[in-house]
Order: sequence, then structure tokens, then C-alpha cells
Amino acid sequence: MKPIRVGLLGLGVVGGGTYAILERNREEISRRAGREIHVAMAAVRDVDLERAREKTAGRVALTTDPQQVVNSPDVDIVAELMGGIHPAKELVLQAIARGKHVVTANKALLALHGNEIFKAAHERGVMVAFEAAVAGGIPIIKTLREGLTANRIEWIAGIINGTSNYILTSMRDRGVSFSEALKEAQSLGYAEADPTFDIEGIDAAHKLTIMAAIAFGIPMQFERAYTEGISTLTAEDIRYAEEFGYRIKLLGITRRTARGIELRVHPTLIPERRLIANVDGVMNAVLVKGDAVGTTLHYGAGAGAEPTGSSVVADLVDITRMATADPGNRVPHLAFQPDQMHDDVVLPVAEIETSYYLRMRAFDRPGVLADVTRILADLGISIEAMLQREPAAGEERVDVIMLTHQTVERQIDQAIAKIEALDSISGPVTRIRLEPLGPV
Ligand code: HSE
Repeated sequence: MKPIRVGLLGLGVVGGGTYAILERNREEISRRAGREIHVAMAAVRDVDLERAREKTAGRVALTTDPQQVVNSPDVDIVAELMGGIHPAKELVLQAIARGKHVVTANKALLALHGNEIFKAAHERGVMVAFEAAVAGGIPIIKTLREGLTANRIEWIAGIINGTSNYILTSMRDRGVSFSEALKEAQSLGYAEADPTFDIEGIDAAHKLTIMAAIAFGIPMQFERAYTEGISTLTAEDIRYAEEFGYRIKLLGITRRTARGIELRVHPTLIPERRLIANVDGVMNAVLVKGDAVGTTLHYGAGAGAEPTGSSVVADLVDITRMATADPGNRVPHLAFQPDQMHDDVVLPVAEIETSYYLRMRAFDRPGVLADVTRILADLGISIEAMLQREPAAGEERVDVIMLTHQTVERQIDQAIAKIEALDSISGPVTRIRLEPLGPV
């Protein structure tokens, strides 16, 4: 059978990894796919042309004009590995309009414009595959879409940003501040010069939005995701959490409730005995709770040339196998048949239900704790654990930390406002959400 021809948009980290895997494992990949997967063309930036020539040893037609790849009659699958929204979006839509299948690693593009892209692909009868967009080398898209297809998915919770996990791990292991840990991550090349997307939870929210769409059969709704990053976390909160037996991780959580879907990214206390609490450094992990299978945990590298390339190549193989199948018989892009998607409500963060870690600085005098606990009791919030440290020498204020039972976030908002208004409390109350995430 003739080889299937791939056009790469981008031959950087992920494109280079993809190319290297296809070259190294050419024979086995062909035996699996049923035909050879051949990189026919690649578009790169002017400045990368020379390096691209070396990487591909003259075996790939190179261009600096991505339109040439998208419009080429010699390309069956366009692999968009350039990132960013523009011109990636226009190129992907153009490839679809030309009847080409698309593979993309671009989570921001799908979270923001996936609904439009999948609609266009469905109408044109082509596939858009995106395993590499979520958690790098972990095959979580295939797992959710196919392996767990029997299940009613109840919730997903994941460490899906390696950079922020690396920073949190450094803060815990070595007691360094957030800014020191960030600087170190930047010097090691884990964090970008502008780290905003990674540390403010935006990258994780893109990935979570995609997983929620597949898990629950809802459109991509990134704009409704609650996003809070790690830049305001302090080493002392990490230490106090440890005293209660918890680790703090940046989690993406999406959960089906009777009132709607929760879609949120924020630092989270997790019991230290959970496997996911021990996922350290740049590694990623995703917990999925299905009604039939129970809780499953998926762990691996969330970034890097070959781990991400592994997912891109898996998509290329899938498309190669399915290209000749009737579109109606293919696995639907978002797991559910396109006419069976539901527009379930995504809850505002005030409506989510979870437990909380609260840290406040209180003047050490009679009645302070009684005032705080009365506020919580009046709002129906139950305290699960509490810690008060002796004041340091010459200090009249003490740290008071409380863990609450599960409550609606709106109640905690009210409680915090009332606690902060007490004369006996100094400064703002720190709030970190807490999830038991049992039983794995
Ligand atoms: N910047 C991401 C991370 C990797 O730190 O996990 C690509 O999604």
C-alpha cells in the first residue's frame, strides 16, 4: 500500500521528537499502521531552516511557508506542532477545508476554538486527533474516549502542568520560596521566560477543558473554567499542610454533580497517602473515576520531545488505520456522537462543593477562636481539624489553621469575609481547597 504522507507544521521540540520516532521505529510503526507513515514536508521558521535540514538529513521537503504544507497535494495528514492560536487556527481550518486529516498538540487552540474546529472536521468528514494536547505522553485522551467508554465518568483530577509541579516539589523538598523555585525552573528550561500560562493554571485549564468535553459530552467551555495558579502559595502553607498529612498540588478537577459540572484549576491539599500526592517534579498524572471501573490513575511524562512525539505518532497511526473507514464508523472526535452532545451547566466557582484549609493570623487573646468558630458554625461549616502555634517570642499574633468538612464555596466566601472583619484577626485569610480523592 502507498505510504500515508504527513506534513509537519513545526519541527521544534515536538516536531523533532515526532520525526525521530517515525524514523527510528519506521518498520514497527508500518507493521502496526498497515502502511508506511512518511513525512513528506515540513514548514519551519526562517531561523530554524538550517537546523531542520540537519535533523531530517535532506529527506524532507522544507519550506518556510506553512501554506505550502496545508495546500500540498502530497500531504494527507497535517500535523500542527507550532503552537499558539494564530496562524495555527487558520492553518488547521484550511487543512480541514482541503480534506486533510489533522493532528495537533495545541491545547490552547482546542480549548478556545475546538467547537468550531470539530464542527468543520465533522462536516468535511476528516479526523482531528489531539492525544498530545493533554498530558504529553500519557494516552489519556484514548483512555477517556475508548478504554473507559463503558463508564459514566464521575470526576477527573489531574496534575497536568509539569512546570508548576516542579516548582511545588522544589518548594516542599527544599523549603524555598515560590520565586526562587520559579527562577530555578527557568534556568533548567522547564519554565518559559514568560511563565504565566504554566504558573497561573491557564495551561492546565486548557487541558482540563478538553478532558471535560470528552468525559461528559459537553462543548469546550474554557471561558467557564475557574483558574487559580500557584504564584501566591507560601512555603509555610506547604509546611502546615504537611503537619496535617497533606501535600499541595496544582490540580485540574472536573466533576459531574446533580447541579452541573465543576471545572476548576487551583492549588489543592491532597492526603499524602494518595499515589497522586507523590507525583513529583515535572511528571504528570491523571485520576479518573468511572462508575464501573472505579478510580484509575495514569502517570507519565507530560512534556518533552519524544513523550509528546509518542502521542503524535499514535494519532498518526490511528488516522492511517481509520482513513479509509466511513466517517460514521470512526471513533467520534469528542467520544460522544456529534448530535449527542449536551450543553450541561458549568457551575460558577461559588457553587462548587469541597473542603478547605484556612490560615489566619489571630491576636492571642480570649474569645478569638470562639468568634471564628461561631462564624463557621452559623454558616453550617463544620471544622475537621485545627492547629494553633505558640506565638514567637515578642509576637502577639499566632497562626491558626483550620480544615473544614465539605461545604459550598459561597458559604466559605461569606465566612472568610466575616472572619477578616474581626478586630482580632490580622490581614487576609488564606484559603486552599482540599480534596480527599479516594481511594487510589
Ligand atoms: N508547559 C507544559 C507543562 C507542557 O509545564 O506541563 C506542555 O503542555
